[in-house]
Amino acid sequence: MTPVRKLVSVDDMSREWWDALYARCCDIIARPGVYADSCRGKILATMFYEPSTRTNFSFQAAAQRLGAGVFGFSDPLGTSASKGETLADTIRMTASYSDTIVIRSPQEGAATAASLYSEVPVINAGDGGHFHPTQTLADLTTIAQKRGGIGDFRIGLCGDLKYGRTVHSLVEAMTMFPGVSFYLISPKELRLPEYILDQMSAQGHEYTESESLVDCIPELDVLYMTRVQRERFHDAAEYRRLKDVYILTKKMLENAKSDMLILHPLPRYGEIARDVDDDMRAVYFEQARYGMLIRMALLLDFMHLPRQAPAPVAGGQGTVECSNPACIAHSEIYLPKLISGSGPDRCGYCDKKPPVQMF
Ligand code: NCD
Repeated sequence: MTPVRKLVSVDDMSREWWDALYARCCDIIARPGVYADSCRGKILATMFYEPSTRTNFSFQAAAQRLGAGVFGFSDPLGTSASKGETLADTIRMTASYSDTIVIRSPQEGAATAASLYSEVPVINAGDGGHFHPTQTLADLTTIAQKRGGIGDFRIGLCGDLKYGRTVHSLVEAMTMFPGVSFYLISPKELRLPEYILDQMSAQGHEYTESESLVDCIPELDVLYMTRVQRERFHDAAEYRRLKDVYILTKKMLENAKSDMLILHPLPRYGEIARDVDDDMRAVYFEQARYGMLIRMALLLDFMHLPRQAPAPVAGGQGTVECSNPACIAHSEIYLPKLISGSGPDRCGYCDKKPPVQMF
């Protein structure tokens, strides 16, 4: 297997890669002491341009549990980005001091852009409303641990499927596994983006779109609840109208399978009532812990890869024509044109097709 040198989208993952990563994670769970010094002398850089609790802390904890050091920021105002430094230059500097970079940004495609300028592996910890592949690793680990494997089940994804980046990566990753049927539960305004639906159809996966959680719940083996992503809305009134559309309560669980798993990437806003927390089916806090364990497996791999000078970037002012205001290519205008894995007519950073749907 060719070594994977970055994790910016689900396209960087393969079934074979996942199987090896998960096997390493299981060994870390079984024998944590063996790994305590396995990244001694290595350094992780964490660049958080957007708020984070679980992702940031779990990466830091994962690195430290492997014996590595960590530096980074959680407020870009304290960095030269506030003086107008380009992302490309910040990445070149950060890569020269570290062995792996984790980046979260409100801009779609930021991690892809970062990977073009880094001599160390880049991990996408969330790029706007686009992807969040390491949350997907946490989700897959939770399902695999709780069900004994991944495949042959019905998963319901409920809430903000339009802006919820964890849903986008999870759905794409699930297409690697056999026999998964999807119930996409959202209001019409928050449907899953077309580029993900296209991907599912191309892979021959079945999906049902519904606006009713109550109708779907009896069918499900896994329910993945999500928060309505306030920070991605431009219209505050629209957010207020949609934010409480789904609230999972203990009462609703009476109609669910007795072994249905309830996942949530967290933070929750109000979409899972507190009385659900004590239900055996609620696994969202464990899911956060699995997130740290699978990130340990990922760092163990990435931090030991040899440095590799990035291929020369043939960029120039104005080479990218993406009109999505949330896309990194919109603000970092020197970036080279990239072709998207989900179609040659889509932006290689944010996957949107022109003309872009406005945020
Ligand atoms: C998610 C995120 O940041 O996308 N949280 C996380 O990383 N665990 C989900 C969210 O913010 O709703």
